[in-house]
Amino acid sequence: MSLAEEKKLDDAYVMPTFGRFGVEFVGGRGMTLVDDQGKEYLDFLAGIGVCSLGHCHPVLVGALEEQAEKLVHVSNYFYIEHRGSVAKRLSDLAGQGATTWKTFFANSGAEANECAMKLARLRSTRSGKGGTTIVALRRGFHGRTLETVAATMQERLQKDFRPLPPGFVATEPNDVAALERLFAEQGDAICAVMLEPIQGESGVHPLTDEFMGAVRRLCDEHDALMIADEVQCGMFRTGRPFAFQLSGATPDIFTLAKGIAGGVPMGACVARADVADVFRPGDHGSTFGGSNLACAAADAVIAELERGRYDERAAEVGSYLMGRLAQVPHVTDVRGAGLMVGCDLDDVAPDAHDVVAAALEGGVVLNATGPRTLRLLPPLVCERRHVDVLVDVLSAILGAGD
Ligand SMILES: Cc1ncc(COP(=O)(O)O)c(C=O)c1O
Repeated sequence: MSLAEEKKLDDAYVMPTFGRFGVEFVGGRGMTLVDDQGKEYLDFLAGIGVCSLGHCHPVLVGALEEQAEKLVHVSNYFYIEHRGSVAKRLSDLAGQGATTWKTFFANSGAEANECAMKLARLRSTRSGKGGTTIVALRRGFHGRTLETVAATMQERLQKDFRPLPPGFVATEPNDVAALERLFAEQGDAICAVMLEPIQGESGVHPLTDEFMGAVRRLCDEHDALMIADEVQCGMFRTGRPFAFQLSGATPDIFTLAKGIAGGVPMGACVARADVADVFRPGDHGSTFGGSNLACAAADAVIAELERGRYDERAAEVGSYLMGRLAQVPHVTDVRGAGLMVGCDLDDVAPDAHDVVAAALEGGVVLNATGPRTLRLLPPLVCERRHVDVLVDVLSAILGAGD
């Protein structure tokens, strides 16, 4: 089917929840995507941080082929090949000495966060504390279900969906004094603080170590849980398996999705075993979560991420990327960690959305989180030579008016 026919069908029958570019990708390999005309692009978006091993990595393709031949799905009523192995890998990667972590498998980031919030409320209820309030940070993003929209403290994303589920309060990121005041006033009612160690959708804003440490301390003092939403920043992207490991503050629960299975839908809510064991059969569930196919994919992807030391690679190539971006005309600020990078443009530069469109034309896929901010989330197989192409394309676009 031609792109024009594809577009006609899409416009008529697919809900218009995304603004789309007039491009259809039909193939890919590593950092490269290929459109229906055979034109090649370098992918600095990776399906929004999803294709961690790049496109069609042989390890992922092989695992999918092998599993699809055997069994795609049964049900969580049964034991499932690879499921325990994936959960053990996540526990080992989270580390912290003798601590064991247990995982609930879902299908998306929002679902993983729903599980985390339900678990925090359940623990508070069953322990007798009874607090139900979840503290979330302004500028955060936690998903598109109603509960995760309620936790997403951005007016733009909440305003037309009210009434939202109650039980959420907002505080400013990196403002320790404000968080201390909140706990002093409402500590008994708070069951959890949910945060992204690096806020992704709002433009890649890292939380300070001081703030992460304060969340940990206040949660301990008030018997509340610290939940790290690592849906975007987790899975080796920031130079560590999980971004909270950059700060030294270990959460009680963390959530994953995006890169965990290299493009196959999977979400994961990982909790310290004593917290996880509050769940009893029937408290929570998912039909598709942790399917045979998704678990085979995740097992293979995580094994390859570990084997190839992709956390170290992300740190190395990421710091090269940040250094090179800082030299591009009209770039005023570059921030992030590893291969999760945000980059602000000055007021005389074109709108970042126009830069993204021009880059696409020039054969590079990237993303804007707002009119002044570009975001880069390439596959973790990204190398310096790919960064050089990106910087050439961006410099040509942004330097053109100088
Ligand atoms: C930090 C964070 N949490 C949650 C989500 C929601 O994930 P999903 O779209 O898989 O539901 C996202 C998606 O971008 C995210 O970046």
